[in-house]
Amino acid sequence: MAVTIKSDAEIARMRVAGRMAADLLDMIENHVEPGVTTEFLDDLCRDFIAARHCVSACLGYGDPPYPKHTCISVNHVICHGIPGKKKLREGDILNIDVTVIVDGYHGDSSRMYVAGKPSVAAKRLIEATYTAMCKGIERVSPGVTLGDIGHTIQKYAENARFSVVREFCGHGIGKTFHEDPQVPHFGRPGEGIALRKGMVFTIEPMLNAGKRHLKILDDGWTAVTRDRSLSAQWEHMLAVTDSGFEVLTLSKAERDAAALAVR
Ligand code: MF3
Ligand code: CO
Ligand code: CO
Repeated sequence: MAVTIKSDAEIARMRVAGRMAADLLDMIENHVEPGVTTEFLDDLCRDFIAARHCVSACLGYGDPPYPKHTCISVNHVICHGIPGKKKLREGDILNIDVTVIVDGYHGDSSRMYVAGKPSVAAKRLIEATYTAMCKGIERVSPGVTLGDIGHTIQKYAENARFSVVREFCGHGIGKTFHEDPQVPHFGRPGEGIALRKGMVFTIEPMLNAGKRHLKILDDGWTAVTRDRSLSAQWEHMLAVTDSGFEVLTLSKAERDAAALAVR
């Protein structure tokens, strides 16, 4: 599959999809607390999406067909955690990953949340993962290679003594959920294809407190750390502009703080 270059009109539509994903992740924040099940959080997301006459790209995706509207990955779950009946406990950390389809285009983003108060170690992991994602995004500009981005993320993560998951990458996105190119969160400077204006892709690093290795559970989806160490992930979807990048999935807090501003 070739890398698709989006027109300004397509990017305008992806901005709408990205904004919907961001609004959904903003909405769910107030509902994350000890005692609620991840299935309850998924139901709220399902209802929010349905009320806006949109659909989740996750439901029925892949093989085996993904059974829920969101992925909710708690503690040592790296990604693709399936919402279920387990209740969140004080101090649990979780990634909520949503992908909506609006007017034919995908909006994909995820954030970390905490039920109650995190441990010092969990807070450090969550913050380092956010910073690693931001450093990768801020590197984005025409001519920069995928290896440059991956290297930036890996260097920051490993300097902070966290490991980077290699089996899952960021990805091109548009009318299709997962398009070329793959965007690794590790790599060497200068490697890989060069970015061009109009490319739209995600950066979604997963960092582990222990070793980087994972296993997939029997449900065919849930990825967990082999050593059961904590894992964190953040994801933004962005477009390459003439002079840098535009993040299409900014939270209200990021918009207000002018964090990750267009460049
Ligand atoms: N949203 C995930 C990503 O960032 C993919 C989830 S696929 C699903 O690429 F089927 F598990 F939902
Ligand atoms: Co996602
Ligand atoms: Co993604």
